[in-house]
Amino acid sequence: MATRWTDTEIPPLHGKTFVVTGSNSGIGLQAARVLARRGAAVVLACRSEDKAQQAVDLIRTELPEASVKQMKLDLASLASIRAFATRFGEEHAQLDALVNNAGMMAIPRALTADGFEMQLGTNHLGHFALTGLLLAPLQARGAARVVNVASQAHRLGTMRFDDLMGERRYEKWAAYGQSKLANLLFTFELDRRLAARTPSGPRVEALACHPGYSATELQGKGPALEKSRIGAAVMDLGNRLLAQPAERGALPTLRAATDPSAHGGDYFGPDGLLEMAGAPVKVGANGKARDLEAARRLWAASVELTGVDFGGL
Ligand SMILES: NC(=O)c1ccc[n+]([C@@H]2O[C@H](COP(=O)([O-])OP(=O)(O)OC[C@H]3O[C@@H](n4cnc5c(N)ncnc54)[C@H](OP(=O)(O)O)[C@@H]3O)[C@@H](O)[C@H]2O)c1
Repeated sequence: MATRWTDTEIPPLHGKTFVVTGSNSGIGLQAARVLARRGAAVVLACRSEDKAQQAVDLIRTELPEASVKQMKLDLASLASIRAFATRFGEEHAQLDALVNNAGMMAIPRALTADGFEMQLGTNHLGHFALTGLLLAPLQARGAARVVNVASQAHRLGTMRFDDLMGERRYEKWAAYGQSKLANLLFTFELDRRLAARTPSGPRVEALACHPGYSATELQGKGPALEKSRIGAAVMDLGNRLLAQPAERGALPTLRAATDPSAHGGDYFGPDGLLEMAGAPVKVGANGKARDLEAARRLWAASVELTGVDFGGL
């Protein structure tokens, strides 16, 4: 049997720069920590400067020489995303990998600053805009990666192009599923477009991953917003009994971002039962995530909604 991939297989990352969104907790924090341990410069792109500073301090406590810093990024605001990209471009000429990790799950209906439904707006549209605005520093690197953190919940999702924002009908899990299906459609479409632009030689590649079922802050946020003590207790129990630790949940992300043998279009997740836990391996996405017409439609809708067109890619 082949050996199981662990973070000890990550090559040295000195001289490389990674941006990890939503890296003040959960999967993003664990990924940032490991990347920093391997020598990477890591930008923690977070909406709360206080929480981000705590994460930076935590990493520096373990690793005083770590090259980590925070930069404010609220994915629920196109203005904040543009400000982040401008600042990043002023401070860095190149980017090796953008890890689009931040997310919200199964929350009551809310809107972003630009009027998008919060889960699609944060999980997909915000990351779509961010990726487009960081394409220049990624392309300046030549071989670079975009890693989108999806979920098994993509299987619950359907792209409702006639009601993307859930104005007519909103169900919190369906909206989460739609946003995670969008993560995969975007990953595969972006990789196809990048491959068509650069048919040979080093290029920016787009990959996806999912963390299985990992104990993080994600599960508690919906119940907290709903003020549901029962919901919070159920989620807490699930995290204690069924979920794997966030350290393991971050491995598919780390593999997608750093494994030299990974390629554009690859999708990594845990190898255990129902892909809930385990070591990171290539996993499958369902047919809806491979639908070329849906991917093109989502791309066009995302360009129109965000005003970010990837230079006509
Ligand atoms: N945990 C799981 O079992 C699981 C399963 C499948 C997929 N995932 C995916 O894994 C990713 C990471 O989630 P997690 O489990 O690590 O949860 P988490 O601990 O709640 O981390 C989510 C991160 O996203 C940030 N975030 C939320 N909205 C944001 C916004 N508008 N702008 C910037 N950052 C924002 C959060 O910031 P705040 O701290 O300020 O809220 C937090 O840093 C998500 O994409 C999630 O869908 C997780």
